[in-house]
Amino acid sequence: SNRIMLGPLVAAIDQGTSSTRFLVFNAKTAELLSHHQVEIKQSFPKEGWVEEDPKEILQSVYECMDRTCEKLTQLNIDISNIKAIGVTNQRETTLVWDKETGEPLYNAIVWLDLRTQSTVERLINKTPGRNKNHLKHKTGLPISTYFSAVKLRWLMDNVEKVHEAVLSHRAMFGTVDSWLIWCLTGGKKGGVHCTDVTNASRTMLFNIHTMDWDPELCKYFDIPMEILPKVRSSSEIYGLMKSGPLTGVPISGCLGDQSAALVGQMCFKDGQAKNTYGTGCFLLKNVGTKPVMSDHGLLTTIAYKLGRDKPACYALEGSVAIAGAVVRWLMDNLGIIQTSTELEKLAADVGTSYGCYFVPAFSGLYAPYWEPSARGIICGLTQFTNRSHLAFAALEAVCFQTREILDAMNQDSGIHLSQLQVDGGMTSNRLLMQLQADILCIPVVKPSMPETTALGAAMAAGAAEGVSVWSLNPEDLTEVTSERFEPQINPEESELRYARWKKAVQRAMNWET
Ligand code: G3P
Repeated sequence: SNRIMLGPLVAAIDQGTSSTRFLVFNAKTAELLSHHQVEIKQSFPKEGWVEEDPKEILQSVYECMDRTCEKLTQLNIDISNIKAIGVTNQRETTLVWDKETGEPLYNAIVWLDLRTQSTVERLINKTPGRNKNHLKHKTGLPISTYFSAVKLRWLMDNVEKVHEAVLSHRAMFGTVDSWLIWCLTGGKKGGVHCTDVTNASRTMLFNIHTMDWDPELCKYFDIPMEILPKVRSSSEIYGLMKSGPLTGVPISGCLGDQSAALVGQMCFKDGQAKNTYGTGCFLLKNVGTKPVMSDHGLLTTIAYKLGRDKPACYALEGSVAIAGAVVRWLMDNLGIIQTSTELEKLAADVGTSYGCYFVPAFSGLYAPYWEPSARGIICGLTQFTNRSHLAFAALEAVCFQTREILDAMNQDSGIHLSQLQVDGGMTSNRLLMQLQADILCIPVVKPSMPETTALGAAMAAGAAEGVSVWSLNPEDLTEVTSERFEPQINPEESELRYARWKKAVQRAMNWET
Protein backbone atom coordinates (compact mmCIF):
# COMPACT_ATOMS: atom_id res chain seq x y z
CA SER A 1 0.00 0.00 0.00
CA ASN A 2 1.02 3.63 -0.13
CA ARG A 3 1.81 3.94 3.57
CA ILE A 4 3.94 6.95 4.42
CA MET A 5 7.36 6.04 5.81
CA LEU A 6 8.28 8.31 8.68
CA GLY A 7 10.47 6.30 11.00
CA PRO A 8 9.69 5.99 14.71
CA LEU A 9 6.84 7.97 16.25
CA VAL A 10 6.27 8.84 19.89
CA ALA A 11 2.95 9.72 21.51
CA ALA A 12 1.98 11.77 24.54
CA ILE A 13 -1.05 11.82 26.78
CA ASP A 14 -1.52 15.37 28.06
CA GLN A 15 -4.12 15.30 30.81
CA GLY A 16 -4.64 18.92 31.89
CA THR A 17 -7.14 20.54 34.24
CA SER A 18 -9.49 21.64 31.48
CA SER A 19 -8.88 19.05 28.76
CA THR A 20 -7.19 15.82 27.74
CA ARG A 21 -5.12 15.46 24.58
CA PHE A 22 -3.34 12.70 22.79
CA LEU A 23 -0.61 13.75 20.36
CA VAL A 24 1.75 11.90 18.08
CA PHE A 25 5.16 13.25 17.11
CA ASN A 26 7.82 12.23 14.62
CA ALA A 27 10.79 11.25 16.80
CA LYS A 28 13.35 12.48 14.26
CA THR A 29 11.89 15.90 13.46
CA ALA A 30 9.68 16.60 16.51
CA GLU A 31 6.90 17.40 14.05
CA LEU A 32 3.34 17.02 15.39
CA LEU A 33 1.53 14.57 13.10
CA SER A 34 -1.91 14.27 14.62
CA HIS A 35 -3.82 14.84 17.81
CA HIS A 36 -7.22 14.83 19.43
CA GLN A 37 -8.61 16.80 22.35
CA VAL A 38 -11.55 16.28 24.71
CA GLU A 39 -12.80 18.77 27.32
CA ILE A 40 -13.01 17.67 30.96
CA LYS A 41 -15.96 18.57 33.18
CA GLN A 42 -15.16 20.25 36.45
CA SER A 43 -17.71 20.20 39.24
CA PHE A 44 -18.00 22.74 42.03
CA PRO A 45 -20.16 20.90 44.60
CA LYS A 46 -19.63 23.56 47.25
CA GLU A 47 -18.06 26.99 47.32
CA GLY A 48 -14.33 26.59 46.85
CA TRP A 49 -14.55 22.89 46.01
CA VAL A 50 -13.28 21.66 42.63
CA GLU A 51 -13.65 18.02 41.57
CA GLU A 52 -13.30 15.90 38.47
CA ASP A 53 -14.49 12.38 37.72
CA PRO A 54 -11.54 9.90 37.56
CA LYS A 55 -13.44 7.64 35.18
CA GLU A 56 -14.25 10.51 32.85
CA ILE A 57 -10.56 11.43 32.89
CA LEU A 58 -9.61 7.85 31.97
CA GLN A 59 -12.32 7.61 29.30
CA SER A 60 -11.16 10.88 27.76
CA VAL A 61 -7.67 9.41 27.42
CA TYR A 62 -8.99 6.31 25.63
CA GLU A 63 -11.19 8.44 23.40
CA CYS A 64 -8.31 10.75 22.43
CA MET A 65 -6.08 7.73 21.72
CA ASP A 66 -8.69 6.02 19.55
CA ARG A 67 -9.52 9.16 17.56
CA THR A 68 -5.86 10.06 17.02
CA CYS A 69 -5.05 6.55 15.81
CA GLU A 70 -8.01 6.75 13.41
CA LYS A 71 -6.77 10.09 12.09
CA LEU A 72 -3.28 8.67 11.56
CA THR A 73 -4.66 5.69 9.69
CA GLN A 74 -6.61 8.08 7.47
CA LEU A 75 -3.35 9.90 6.79
CA ASN A 76 -1.86 6.55 5.75
CA ILE A 77 0.46 6.55 8.73
CA ASP A 78 0.99 3.14 10.27
CA ILE A 79 0.27 3.32 14.01
CA SER A 80 2.63 0.42 14.63
CA ASN A 81 5.38 3.05 14.23
CA ILE A 82 4.39 4.45 17.63
CA LYS A 83 7.22 3.17 19.80
CA ALA A 84 6.48 4.78 23.14
CA ILE A 85 3.94 6.83 25.06
CA GLY A 86 4.67 9.61 27.54
CA VAL A 87 2.24 10.80 30.21
CA THR A 88 2.03 14.40 31.36
CA ASN A 89 -0.64 15.70 33.67
CA GLN A 90 -2.21 18.37 35.85
CA ARG A 91 -0.21 18.08 39.04
CA GLU A 92 -1.29 17.73 42.71
CA THR A 93 -4.85 16.61 41.86
CA THR A 94 -5.52 13.77 44.28
CA LEU A 95 -7.17 10.39 43.78
CA VAL A 96 -7.74 7.28 45.88
CA TRP A 97 -8.98 4.01 44.41
CA ASP A 98 -9.53 0.41 45.44
CA LYS A 99 -6.86 -1.86 44.01
CA GLU A 100 -9.11 -4.91 44.06
CA THR A 101 -12.16 -3.47 42.31
CA GLY A 102 -10.25 -0.81 40.37
CA GLU A 103 -12.95 1.69 41.40
CA PRO A 104 -12.17 5.27 42.40
CA LEU A 105 -13.39 5.86 45.97
CA TYR A 106 -14.18 9.54 45.51
CA ASN A 107 -13.88 12.18 42.81
CA ALA A 108 -10.45 13.56 42.06
CA ILE A 109 -9.86 16.61 44.26
CA VAL A 110 -8.43 19.18 41.85
CA TRP A 111 -5.34 21.21 42.79
CA LEU A 112 -7.42 24.43 42.84
CA ASP A 113 -9.72 23.09 45.53
CA LEU A 114 -9.97 25.10 48.77
CA ARG A 115 -11.77 22.67 51.09
CA THR A 116 -8.60 22.14 53.11
CA GLN A 117 -8.19 25.83 53.98
CA SER A 118 -9.07 25.36 57.65
CA THR A 119 -6.80 22.30 57.92
CA VAL A 120 -3.98 24.30 56.42
CA GLU A 121 -4.56 27.18 58.80
CA ARG A 122 -4.62 24.77 61.73
CA LEU A 123 -1.38 23.12 60.63
CA ILE A 124 0.35 26.48 60.21
CA ASN A 125 -0.88 27.66 63.63
CA LYS A 126 0.70 24.59 65.22
CA THR A 127 4.17 25.28 63.78
CA PRO A 128 6.75 27.23 65.78
CA GLY A 129 6.27 30.91 64.90
CA ARG A 130 3.24 30.15 62.70
CA ASN A 131 5.54 29.46 59.82
CA LYS A 132 3.97 28.27 56.57
CA ASN A 133 7.46 27.33 55.40
CA HIS A 134 7.88 24.85 58.25
CA LEU A 135 8.30 21.88 55.85
CA LYS A 136 10.06 23.75 53.10
CA HIS A 137 13.57 22.51 53.93
CA LYS A 138 12.45 19.01 52.91
CA THR A 139 9.70 19.63 50.38
CA GLY A 140 10.56 22.98 48.80
CA LEU A 141 6.91 23.93 49.37
CA PRO A 142 4.88 26.07 51.78
CA ILE A 143 2.00 24.44 53.67
CA SER A 144 -0.91 25.24 51.37
CA THR A 145 -4.22 23.91 50.06
CA TYR A 146 -2.44 23.45 46.72
CA PHE A 147 -0.49 20.23 47.37
CA SER A 148 -1.74 16.63 47.60
CA ALA A 149 -1.03 15.66 51.21
CA VAL A 150 -3.78 17.80 52.74
CA LYS A 151 -6.26 16.66 50.11
CA LEU A 152 -5.41 13.03 50.84
CA ARG A 153 -5.77 13.70 54.55
CA TRP A 154 -9.22 15.18 53.88
CA LEU A 155 -10.26 12.09 51.92
CA MET A 156 -9.12 9.77 54.71
CA ASP A 157 -10.96 11.82 57.34
CA ASN A 158 -14.18 12.51 55.47
CA VAL A 159 -14.88 9.71 53.02
CA GLU A 160 -15.93 6.49 54.75
CA LYS A 161 -15.00 4.34 51.73
CA VAL A 162 -11.49 5.77 51.67
CA HIS A 163 -11.09 5.29 55.39
CA GLU A 164 -12.17 1.64 55.14
CA ALA A 165 -10.04 0.89 52.10
CA VAL A 166 -6.99 2.26 53.89
CA LEU A 167 -7.70 0.08 56.95
CA SER A 168 -8.19 -3.03 54.83
CA HIS A 169 -5.03 -2.35 52.79
CA ARG A 170 -6.93 -1.93 49.54
CA ALA A 171 -6.38 1.79 49.02
CA MET A 172 -4.07 3.26 46.42
CA PHE A 173 -3.27 6.96 46.33
CA GLY A 174 -2.06 8.72 43.25
CA THR A 175 -1.93 11.93 41.31
CA VAL A 176 -3.42 11.80 37.80
CA ASP A 177 -0.26 10.27 36.28
CA SER A 178 -0.41 7.33 38.72
CA TRP A 179 -4.11 6.76 38.15
CA LEU A 180 -3.65 6.73 34.37
CA ILE A 181 -0.53 4.57 34.30
CA TRP A 182 -2.09 2.07 36.71
CA CYS A 183 -5.26 1.81 34.59
CA LEU A 184 -3.49 1.75 31.22
CA THR A 185 -1.05 -0.97 32.30
CA GLY A 186 -3.82 -3.34 33.42
CA GLY A 187 -5.57 -1.80 36.46
CA LYS A 188 -6.78 -4.38 38.94
CA LYS A 189 -5.18 -7.08 36.77
CA GLY A 190 -1.59 -6.18 37.50
CA GLY A 191 -1.45 -2.44 36.79
CA VAL A 192 1.77 -0.63 37.73
CA HIS A 193 1.39 1.72 40.70
CA CYS A 194 4.04 4.39 40.17
CA THR A 195 4.67 8.09 39.80
CA ASP A 196 7.68 10.10 38.71
CA VAL A 197 9.88 12.40 40.76
CA THR A 198 8.33 15.59 39.34
CA ASN A 199 4.79 14.61 40.30
CA ALA A 200 5.96 13.21 43.65
CA SER A 201 7.61 16.54 44.45
CA ARG A 202 4.14 18.19 44.48
CA THR A 203 2.58 15.96 47.13
CA MET A 204 4.37 17.40 50.21
CA LEU A 205 5.27 13.83 51.18
CA PHE A 206 8.40 13.70 49.04
CA ASN A 207 11.86 14.71 50.20
CA ILE A 208 13.50 16.63 47.35
CA HIS A 209 16.99 15.89 48.71
CA THR A 210 16.76 12.13 49.31
CA MET A 211 14.47 11.86 46.24
CA ASP A 212 12.04 9.55 47.99
CA TRP A 213 8.92 9.52 50.17
CA ASP A 214 9.81 10.91 53.56
CA PRO A 215 8.69 8.88 56.61
CA GLU A 216 8.58 12.00 58.80
CA LEU A 217 6.40 13.90 56.38
CA CYS A 218 4.08 10.90 56.08
CA LYS A 219 3.88 10.81 59.84
CA TYR A 220 3.22 14.56 60.02
CA PHE A 221 0.17 14.14 57.75
CA ASP A 222 -0.56 10.70 59.23
CA ILE A 223 -0.52 8.94 55.87
CA PRO A 224 0.38 5.24 55.64
CA MET A 225 3.28 4.82 53.23
CA GLU A 226 1.88 1.60 51.79
CA ILE A 227 -0.77 3.53 49.83
CA LEU A 228 1.84 5.61 47.99
CA PRO A 229 2.99 4.77 44.45
CA LYS A 230 6.58 3.78 43.75
CA VAL A 231 8.66 6.78 42.73
CA ARG A 232 10.48 6.41 39.40
CA SER A 233 12.50 8.67 37.13
CA SER A 234 10.72 10.71 34.43
CA SER A 235 12.11 8.58 31.60
CA GLU A 236 12.09 4.78 31.88
CA ILE A 237 9.73 1.97 30.92
CA TYR A 238 7.02 1.73 33.60
CA GLY A 239 4.85 -0.85 31.83
CA LEU A 240 3.03 -1.68 28.60
CA MET A 241 -0.37 -0.61 27.28
CA LYS A 242 -2.83 -3.41 28.02
CA SER A 243 -5.73 -2.50 25.72
CA GLY A 244 -6.81 -0.36 22.79
CA PRO A 245 -5.12 0.27 19.44
CA LEU A 246 -1.70 0.72 21.06
CA THR A 247 -1.67 -2.49 23.09
CA GLY A 248 1.90 -3.54 23.86
CA VAL A 249 3.44 -0.06 23.44
CA PRO A 250 5.61 0.92 26.43
CA ILE A 251 4.66 3.84 28.64
CA SER A 252 8.10 5.27 29.23
CA GLY A 253 7.82 8.96 30.06
CA CYS A 254 6.09 10.68 32.95
CA LEU A 255 6.30 14.31 34.01
CA GLY A 256 4.00 16.83 35.65
CA ASP A 257 2.78 19.17 32.92
CA GLN A 258 4.91 22.12 33.98
CA SER A 259 8.07 20.02 34.03
CA ALA A 260 7.17 18.58 30.64
CA ALA A 261 6.81 22.08 29.21
CA LEU A 262 10.27 22.97 30.53
CA VAL A 263 11.67 19.93 28.70
CA GLY A 264 9.59 20.65 25.58
CA GLN A 265 10.95 24.21 25.54
CA MET A 266 14.48 22.70 25.70
CA CYS A 267 15.28 24.54 28.93
CA PHE A 268 18.04 22.09 29.86
CA LYS A 269 20.55 24.69 30.98
CA ASP A 270 20.83 26.27 34.37
CA GLY A 271 19.04 29.64 34.21
CA GLN A 272 16.67 28.83 31.34
CA ALA A 273 12.99 29.44 32.04
CA LYS A 274 9.51 29.13 30.54
CA ASN A 275 6.04 30.35 31.43
CA THR A 276 2.99 28.21 30.55
CA TYR A 277 -0.49 29.76 30.32
CA GLY A 278 -3.01 26.98 31.01
CA THR A 279 -5.82 26.92 33.56
CA GLY A 280 -3.24 28.48 35.82
CA CYS A 281 0.08 29.98 34.87
CA PHE A 282 3.43 28.51 35.86
CA LEU A 283 6.87 30.01 35.44
CA LEU A 284 9.67 27.48 35.96
CA LYS A 285 13.37 28.15 35.88
CA ASN A 286 15.92 25.37 35.66
CA VAL A 287 18.43 25.85 38.49
CA GLY A 288 20.58 22.77 37.81
CA THR A 289 21.37 19.71 39.90
CA LYS A 290 21.36 21.42 43.32
CA PRO A 291 18.10 22.65 44.85
CA VAL A 292 17.85 26.41 45.34
CA MET A 293 15.50 27.73 48.03
CA SER A 294 13.56 30.91 47.39
CA ASP A 295 13.37 33.88 49.72
CA HIS A 296 10.58 35.43 47.66
CA GLY A 297 7.70 32.98 47.73
CA LEU A 298 8.71 30.64 44.94
CA LEU A 299 8.61 26.86 45.15
CA THR A 300 11.56 24.53 44.81
CA THR A 301 10.54 21.53 42.79
CA ILE A 302 11.98 18.71 40.70
CA ALA A 303 12.35 19.84 37.10
CA TYR A 304 13.02 16.37 35.66
CA LYS A 305 15.17 13.28 35.97
CA LEU A 306 15.53 11.87 32.48
CA GLY A 307 16.59 8.31 33.26
CA ARG A 308 17.21 6.09 36.27
CA ASP A 309 20.93 6.86 36.30
CA LYS A 310 20.64 10.50 35.26
CA PRO A 311 20.90 13.32 37.78
CA ALA A 312 17.76 15.13 38.90
CA CYS A 313 17.47 18.76 37.91
CA TYR A 314 15.66 21.23 40.13
CA ALA A 315 13.52 24.24 39.27
CA LEU A 316 12.30 27.36 40.98
CA GLU A 317 8.62 27.79 40.26
CA GLY A 318 6.20 30.68 40.44
CA SER A 319 2.67 29.27 40.43
CA VAL A 320 -0.38 31.36 39.60
CA ALA A 321 -3.69 29.57 40.24
CA ILE A 322 -5.92 31.45 37.83
CA ALA A 323 -5.00 32.34 34.24
CA GLY A 324 -7.10 30.60 31.56
CA ALA A 325 -9.64 29.89 34.30
CA VAL A 326 -10.55 33.58 34.37
CA VAL A 327 -11.59 33.36 30.71
CA ARG A 328 -13.71 30.33 31.52
CA TRP A 329 -15.27 32.28 34.39
CA LEU A 330 -16.18 35.23 32.17
CA MET A 331 -17.72 32.72 29.80
CA ASP A 332 -19.54 30.33 32.15
CA ASN A 333 -20.32 32.46 35.18
CA LEU A 334 -20.84 35.95 33.74
CA GLY A 335 -21.76 34.96 30.20
CA ILE A 336 -20.21 38.14 28.77
CA ILE A 337 -18.37 36.13 26.10
CA GLN A 338 -19.06 32.91 24.21
CA THR A 339 -15.51 32.04 23.14
CA SER A 340 -11.99 33.00 24.09
CA THR A 341 -11.48 34.59 20.66
CA GLU A 342 -14.35 36.87 21.50
CA LEU A 343 -12.53 37.92 24.65
CA GLU A 344 -9.50 38.97 22.66
CA LYS A 345 -11.70 40.96 20.28
CA LEU A 346 -13.58 42.70 23.07
CA ALA A 347 -10.38 43.64 24.86
CA ALA A 348 -8.72 44.78 21.64
CA ASP A 349 -11.68 47.05 20.85
CA VAL A 350 -10.89 49.25 23.83
CA GLY A 351 -7.16 48.55 24.27
CA THR A 352 -7.32 49.58 27.93
CA SER A 353 -9.04 48.55 31.15
CA TYR A 354 -9.83 52.21 31.78
CA GLY A 355 -8.56 51.95 35.33
CA CYS A 356 -10.39 48.72 36.11
CA TYR A 357 -8.33 46.08 37.96
CA PHE A 358 -9.40 42.48 38.33
CA VAL A 359 -7.61 40.22 40.82
CA PRO A 360 -8.97 36.71 40.14
CA ALA A 361 -8.00 35.23 43.51
CA PHE A 362 -10.68 32.53 43.18
CA SER A 363 -8.53 29.93 44.93
CA GLY A 364 -6.76 32.29 47.25
CA LEU A 365 -3.46 33.68 45.99
CA TYR A 366 -0.53 31.42 45.17
CA ALA A 367 3.00 32.71 44.48
CA PRO A 368 4.45 34.87 45.79
CA TYR A 369 1.79 35.39 48.52
CA TRP A 370 0.51 31.90 49.44
CA GLU A 371 -2.60 33.40 50.98
CA PRO A 372 -5.52 30.96 50.98
CA SER A 373 -7.87 33.54 52.46
CA ALA A 374 -7.55 35.99 49.56
CA ARG A 375 -10.61 36.24 47.31
CA GLY A 376 -11.26 37.77 43.91
CA ILE A 377 -11.88 41.49 43.51
CA ILE A 378 -12.78 43.85 40.68
CA CYS A 379 -12.08 47.48 41.46
CA GLY A 380 -11.68 50.90 39.90
CA LEU A 381 -15.13 50.79 38.31
CA THR A 382 -16.90 53.91 37.05
CA GLN A 383 -20.14 54.51 35.18
CA PHE A 384 -18.03 54.34 32.04
CA THR A 385 -16.71 50.81 32.65
CA ASN A 386 -18.13 48.18 30.31
CA ARG A 387 -17.53 44.51 29.55
CA SER A 388 -14.70 45.31 27.14
CA HIS A 389 -12.79 46.99 29.96
CA LEU A 390 -13.46 44.00 32.16
CA ALA A 391 -12.21 41.67 29.43
CA PHE A 392 -9.07 43.76 29.13
CA ALA A 393 -8.58 43.78 32.91
CA ALA A 394 -8.86 39.96 32.94
CA LEU A 395 -6.09 39.62 30.38
CA GLU A 396 -4.02 42.20 32.18
CA ALA A 397 -4.44 40.22 35.42
CA VAL A 398 -2.73 37.23 33.82
CA CYS A 399 0.16 39.49 32.79
CA PHE A 400 0.49 41.23 36.16
CA GLN A 401 0.52 37.90 37.99
CA THR A 402 3.32 36.74 35.70
CA ARG A 403 5.17 39.99 36.39
CA GLU A 404 4.97 39.28 40.12
CA ILE A 405 6.50 35.84 39.81
CA LEU A 406 9.14 37.02 37.35
CA ASP A 407 10.11 39.78 39.79
CA ALA A 408 10.39 37.21 42.58
CA MET A 409 12.59 35.06 40.40
CA ASN A 410 14.84 37.96 39.46
CA GLN A 411 15.15 38.95 43.13
CA ASP A 412 15.99 35.41 44.19
CA SER A 413 18.79 34.98 41.68
CA GLY A 414 19.95 38.57 41.29
CA ILE A 415 20.07 37.88 37.56
CA HIS A 416 17.36 39.34 35.37
CA LEU A 417 15.81 37.25 32.65
CA SER A 418 16.34 39.09 29.38
CA GLN A 419 13.35 37.50 27.64
CA LEU A 420 10.56 35.12 28.53
CA GLN A 421 9.82 31.85 26.70
CA VAL A 422 6.09 31.15 26.78
CA ASP A 423 3.67 28.42 25.75
CA GLY A 424 0.21 27.01 26.51
CA GLY A 425 -3.31 27.58 25.21
CA MET A 426 -3.61 31.29 25.98
CA THR A 427 -0.49 32.15 23.98
CA SER A 428 -2.59 32.04 20.80
CA ASN A 429 -4.05 35.32 22.09
CA ARG A 430 -1.79 37.87 20.41
CA LEU A 431 -3.14 40.76 22.44
CA LEU A 432 -2.22 38.89 25.62
CA MET A 433 1.30 38.25 24.35
CA GLN A 434 1.84 41.91 23.46
CA LEU A 435 0.40 42.99 26.79
CA GLN A 436 2.72 40.57 28.55
CA ALA A 437 5.79 42.03 26.83
CA ASP A 438 4.56 45.54 27.72
CA ILE A 439 4.01 44.69 31.37
CA LEU A 440 7.30 42.79 31.78
CA CYS A 441 9.31 45.30 29.74
CA ILE A 442 11.17 42.37 28.14
CA PRO A 443 10.49 40.45 24.90
CA VAL A 444 8.17 37.45 25.02
CA VAL A 445 9.13 34.51 22.80
CA LYS A 446 6.60 31.93 21.71
CA PRO A 447 7.49 28.70 19.86
CA SER A 448 5.59 28.11 16.60
CA MET A 449 4.63 24.60 17.77
CA PRO A 450 2.45 25.41 20.79
CA GLU A 451 2.19 21.86 22.23
CA THR A 452 5.44 22.00 24.20
CA THR A 453 4.02 20.16 27.22
CA ALA A 454 3.16 17.10 25.14
CA LEU A 455 6.43 17.41 23.26
CA GLY A 456 8.38 17.23 26.53
CA ALA A 457 6.55 14.07 27.59
CA ALA A 458 7.10 12.50 24.18
CA MET A 459 10.82 13.36 24.33
CA ALA A 460 11.13 11.71 27.76
CA ALA A 461 9.27 8.61 26.54
CA GLY A 462 11.26 8.33 23.31
CA ALA A 463 14.60 8.75 25.07
CA ALA A 464 13.96 6.06 27.69
CA GLU A 465 16.35 3.15 27.96
CA GLY A 466 14.99 0.27 25.91
CA VAL A 467 13.11 2.65 23.60
CA SER A 468 15.87 5.05 22.50
CA VAL A 469 14.22 6.52 19.42
CA TRP A 470 14.64 10.13 20.51
CA SER A 471 18.02 11.63 21.23
CA LEU A 472 18.28 14.31 23.90
CA ASN A 473 21.85 15.22 22.98
CA PRO A 474 21.96 18.99 22.61
CA GLU A 475 23.41 18.73 19.08
CA ASP A 476 20.56 16.46 17.94
CA LEU A 477 17.75 18.65 19.25
CA THR A 478 15.83 20.41 16.53
CA GLU A 479 15.96 24.18 16.61
CA VAL A 480 12.55 25.58 17.55
CA THR A 481 11.16 28.37 15.41
CA SER A 482 9.45 31.10 17.35
CA GLU A 483 7.72 34.43 17.31
CA ARG A 484 8.82 37.45 19.36
CA PHE A 485 6.74 40.18 20.97
CA GLU A 486 8.74 43.30 21.85
CA PRO A 487 7.64 45.73 24.59
CA GLN A 488 5.89 48.71 23.02
CA ILE A 489 4.84 50.99 25.85
CA ASN A 490 7.25 53.02 27.92
CA PRO A 491 8.47 51.48 31.18
CA GLU A 492 7.08 54.38 33.29
CA GLU A 493 3.55 53.68 32.17
CA SER A 494 4.08 50.00 32.73
CA GLU A 495 5.30 50.64 36.30
CA LEU A 496 2.35 52.88 37.03
CA ARG A 497 -0.13 50.22 36.01
CA TYR A 498 1.77 47.57 37.93
CA ALA A 499 1.72 49.70 41.09
CA ARG A 500 -2.07 50.02 40.77
CA TRP A 501 -2.33 46.26 40.39
CA LYS A 502 -0.37 45.74 43.59
CA LYS A 503 -2.80 48.02 45.38
CA ALA A 504 -5.69 45.93 44.12
CA VAL A 505 -3.94 42.77 45.31
CA GLN A 506 -3.71 44.20 48.83
CA ARG A 507 -7.50 44.61 48.81
CA ALA A 508 -7.99 40.98 47.80
CA MET A 509 -5.84 39.69 50.69
CA ASN A 510 -7.22 38.31 53.97
CA TRP A 511 -10.79 38.45 52.84
CA GLU A 512 -12.07 35.05 53.95
CA THR A 513 -10.46 34.78 57.37
O1 G3P B 1 -0.09 22.59 39.27
C1 G3P B 1 -1.20 22.52 38.43
C2 G3P B 1 -0.78 22.44 37.00
O2 G3P B 1 0.02 21.33 36.79
C3 G3P B 1 -2.00 22.48 36.12
O3 G3P B 1 -1.66 22.83 34.85
O4 G3P B 1 -2.05 23.37 32.50
O5 G3P B 1 -3.81 22.22 33.78
O6 G3P B 1 -3.26 24.61 34.23
P1 G3P B 1 -2.79 23.28 33.79
